[in-house]
Amino acid sequence: MSTRHSDPALAPQEADLDRGLRPTSLEEFVGQPQLREPLRIFLDAARGRGEALDHVLLVGPPGLGKTTLAHILAYEVGVEARVTSGPVIERAGDLAGILTNLDEREVLFIDEIHRLNRTVEEYIYPAMEDFRLDIVLDKGPGARSIRLHLSRFTLIGATTRAGMLTSPLRSRFGLVVRLDFYPAEDLCRILHRSAGVLSCELDEEGALEIARRSRGTPRIANRLLKRVRDFAEVRATGRITGDVASDALDLLSVDRIGLDEMDVRILGTLLSKFGGGPTGLTTIAAAVGEEPETIEEIYEPYLVKEGFLERTPRGRVATDRAADHLRIPRRKGTSVAAPDLFDA
Ligand SMILES: Nc1ncnc2c1ncn2[C@@H]1O[C@H](COP(=O)(O)OP(=O)(O)O)[C@@H](O)[C@H]1O
Ligand SMILES: [Mg+2]
Repeated sequence: MSTRHSDPALAPQEADLDRGLRPTSLEEFVGQPQLREPLRIFLDAARGRGEALDHVLLVGPPGLGKTTLAHILAYEVGVEARVTSGPVIERAGDLAGILTNLDEREVLFIDEIHRLNRTVEEYIYPAMEDFRLDIVLDKGPGARSIRLHLSRFTLIGATTRAGMLTSPLRSRFGLVVRLDFYPAEDLCRILHRSAGVLSCELDEEGALEIARRSRGTPRIANRLLKRVRDFAEVRATGRITGDVASDALDLLSVDRIGLDEMDVRILGTLLSKFGGGPTGLTTIAAAVGEEPETIEEIYEPYLVKEGFLERTPRGRVATDRAADHLRIPRRKGTSVAAPDLFDA
């Protein structure tokens, strides 16, 4: 399974940048209007009753703020989040070690929770529901189990792949929060805030130019801001204007509308090899050398949202906008690959 887009795989430098620029309260967290009100109520209600927060599942593509939100939630309840990730918890014993060390109302953040192995997952159910763990000691006829009682903790899970979560696990979260790609104006606000933290001068046009080329993603916006800042310092006066940003991003070969290499590969393959589609997901995946699930959950949402790709019952179709952007004409009415049966 491909993991190169998830946090643990981030280059250390990028992880530092993420941490440095992370907002620490819900008020500072920009955009995502659909989740602010529910989260505020959720937090205030738990606080009013003096209870632990119910378990929360954060869902969305990489770089949209899941880890940030997890820390904000912990901070709002007045605790530090304990952080781990699905693939790190290998055995039930690892999980027991983590859970038995949690205090009342503490927050355990499990990133990439869809990558928990099944055995560990089964131990999590009673822990989430009844705050107990039944650990089996020994094997065979002598096997016995002991019951450990846990503090009432809060589990916050994050996943880029909601579809990969088993339904028993998903149903144990009291609140599921979905993050969407950010419109340019929200990315501009994030960029201005980051420019403040990095103490660099950024004007409106400069912010907009970076925002437009950030694939709707704060992490990409922040990363581009740093690169553009370097350019502005070395090649200009240090101030990031629209022209400076545009020149810098052209020099870095950042696509004008922010598509990344894999986005371009998917659309390009669809257009040049399959005449624009409709083509089945698994066929496209094989052609670009990526997992179908990764394409479906990480790349497609943005391409669909921006009108470059359509999901049809017969397969994926590259739109005219994609053809215009990549300058590869769609072949109308020519042979198309058979859609695979498993595609929606
Ligand atoms: N709503 C937001 N407001 C401000 N900054 C954000 C927001 N969402 C994400 N960021 C920034 O983007 C970066 C990546 O966010 P992160 O929470 O690590 O994403 P994810 O865990 O979903 O991959 C962080 O540096 C964070 O500061
Ligand atoms: Mg993360």
